[in-house]
Amino acid sequence: MRSRHGWSNVFSGCCVCLASRLRAQSHLRSRSEHTAFHAAASFSTALSRKLCRLVHETMTGANCVTHLQKMFEQEGISEPQHSSEHIVSHVLGGKTIHSIAEEALSRPLTAEQKQKIWDLCSRRLQNMPVQYVIEEWDFRDLTLKMKPPVFIPRPETEELICLVLSELAKEEDVSFSVEKARWQNFHQAAGLQFLEIGCGSGAITLSLLRFFKQSRAVAVDKSPEAVNLTRENAERLGVQHRLQELQLNIISDSQKLARVCGSMDIIVSNPPYVFHEDMSGLMPEILRYEDHDALDGGTDGLDVIRAILQLAPTVLKDHGKVFLEVDPRHPEMIQNWLQEYSSLRLTYRATHQDICGKSRFCVLQRS
Ligand SMILES: C[S@@+](CC[C@H](N)C(=O)[O-])C[C@H]1O[C@@H](n2cnc3c(N)ncnc32)[C@H](O)[C@@H]1O
Ligand SMILES: *[C@@H]1O[C@H](CO)[C@@H](O)[C@H](O)[C@H]1NC(C)=O
Repeated sequence: MRSRHGWSNVFSGCCVCLASRLRAQSHLRSRSEHTAFHAAASFSTALSRKLCRLVHETMTGANCVTHLQKMFEQEGISEPQHSSEHIVSHVLGGKTIHSIAEEALSRPLTAEQKQKIWDLCSRRLQNMPVQYVIEEWDFRDLTLKMKPPVFIPRPETEELICLVLSELAKEEDVSFSVEKARWQNFHQAAGLQFLEIGCGSGAITLSLLRFFKQSRAVAVDKSPEAVNLTRENAERLGVQHRLQELQLNIISDSQKLARVCGSMDIIVSNPPYVFHEDMSGLMPEILRYEDHDALDGGTDGLDVIRAILQLAPTVLKDHGKVFLEVDPRHPEMIQNWLQEYSSLRLTYRATHQDICGKSRFCVLQRS
């Protein structure tokens, strides 16, 4: 299996999270189509000259990594090494520079390869996140297609999957740390029915569908681009028959959603949860390329979360659970909010920390 992060098996789930955290994060989008030609036209002459060197001089893959890295550094592009390695390895048909044979890296690039690198490189020079530049990214063991402005999956969300798996394992008294064979004992969860709110590229839903081979999912997003990308990724992974995608806004269309789904085992969501006032502090690459509606959770970051919690008791089975990724300030705010809405059949179960020790995940249960 091609892998950017030494993926070995599903059961080392949390190792996967760790490994992918080592990947640097950079993120971005351009709604408008652009060509390398247009991009180059807006670059300085010095930079255009460097880009031209790339096309006209004999250069090996390894030299090219260094050349691009220097160029990115000089142009103030974030994560210059990470970006240049991803671009060159992508064009050479690998996921990481380390996965490409020494011999292939020391061969001169073909004109076609150089053209392709030139094209990708000019997008990165416009601060487009490398995930959008190479049009794919790994999430756990999956390679997902990426398209601006659909949200690029973040490493924390891989931990959310680990949490869901370990909680389900606990319910079935299956040990989480053991090898694959033991997971075949995962009977009940195998036929899991789940709902994801805000599916983006499909990262969460597709991971769970791939893991639980008999499970079925409803994935909702208000963005048509996201719904389409989830569908496309589901088809690429061959799980589309077990997935229903819906383009709905959980805030305004929750009744419609309640009519479509009933009896879900779990609801999972990585909703937009950034406090509106914190939006301007996000990296410019994010703000320029990623859908703001995927990030902005309103004044207190809870707009979508409240809608999910209000809907949850209606669509969940008895004892069904809600798993949320949130801002570290949210667990307490959610508990306070639930006290006000005590008639809501929902109990706050637990807060879990992410790998950085931040309160990042909430588990609730229908009571
Ligand atoms: C943080 S992104 C998560 C995407 C994906 N689940 C992931 O983890 O990579 C949040 C997603 O929620 C969607 N969204 C935002 N507001 C929504 C709403 N009111 N109803 C449905 N989806 C919404 C956004 O379009 C975006 O795709
Ligand atoms: C989504 O896919 C449908 C069907 O393939 C297509 O008609 C529509 O234009 C797409 N929408 C977007 C926003 O990409």
